[in-house]
Amino acid sequence: MNMTEGKSSAQAIRTVGVVGCGLMGSGIAQVCAQSGYRTIVREVDDATVSKGLGRIESFLSQGVARGKQSEEEKARTLSNLSGTTDLEDLATCDLVIEAIVENMDAKRELLATLDRAVGDDALFASNTSSLCITEMAAATTRPERFVGLHFFSPVPVMKMVEVIRGLVTSDETFERGYAFVKTLGKDPVAAPDRPGFIVNRLLIPYLLDAVRAHESGLGTVEDIDKSMTLGCGHPMGPFTLLDFVGLDTTYYIANIMWDELRNPAYAAPPLLRRMVLAGRLGRKSGRGFYEYS
Ligand code: 3HC
Repeated sequence: MNMTEGKSSAQAIRTVGVVGCGLMGSGIAQVCAQSGYRTIVREVDDATVSKGLGRIESFLSQGVARGKQSEEEKARTLSNLSGTTDLEDLATCDLVIEAIVENMDAKRELLATLDRAVGDDALFASNTSSLCITEMAAATTRPERFVGLHFFSPVPVMKMVEVIRGLVTSDETFERGYAFVKTLGKDPVAAPDRPGFIVNRLLIPYLLDAVRAHESGLGTVEDIDKSMTLGCGHPMGPFTLLDFVGLDTTYYIANIMWDELRNPAYAAPPLLRRMVLAGRLGRKSGRGFYEYS
């Protein structure tokens, strides 16, 4: 545990709130709790809180089975975690990370409420994959204390986090966000507040292009995946990765990037749109480019 690295002239980060305990939020909460932060997750109802905490417990148990951590470390992590449905319970947090649905209106409404509930000195962060950090920050009365912290899936495994500076993010907030990421045992990368930041700016056109290539007859889904795994050493081929990230998520990010950049590289191909419309969203729906039992 090396929480004190996150300390600056401002108050040290000791308690972290994570709003949204889905796939990303639960991973973020897990790594915070694992790193010694008192971590409070907030979800909309008790069942969703339990589901999120259950996902963390199951990941930790798998980690114990793989010899990645001991039962004691798992117990310590869980003892740092608590769940709530009440935003007021985040009042004592030094940092609140939002990881709710990728919808600007929903995020702005949440942030405005959090702004009233959480102490004035607290930092706010968003795990958005592509929405504008500056626009979210403007929903609060503390835009200079707002930073993007974009984690990658699966959060407990992936080693990098993008730290995004909004137009009015203060140097101190950016530095505290950057230092906080290091205390989680992750490598931070400074990214600008531009659509897709760094990773999705490169990844999304690649994924869209794989769909276009397949659509135009370049190869089967399996052969294109095999080309990139066995030919290039990628851990997953583009279609496996699309199913992993979610076709709807990819489609949504592509549309945000297209709306702002108007570059055809970000225009979603017809097949992707139709698969989303058909509910073939990837692993989460049991079927995307592959079937999952
Ligand atoms: N606890 C601790 N460690 C665990 C674990 C657990 N419960 N489960 C897995 N791990 C560790 C494993 O021990 C292993 O680490 P090691 O190499 O040090 O032993 C590592 O994670 C890989 O685990 P596996 O061997 O079981 O699985 P794979 O080798 O099949 O890898 C994967 C799975 C990590 C998901 C790999 O396929 C991968 O890296 N895929 C690409 C993922 C990716 O690109 N993510 C980014 C998506 S984009 C995004 O998130 C941004 C968004 O905005 C779209």
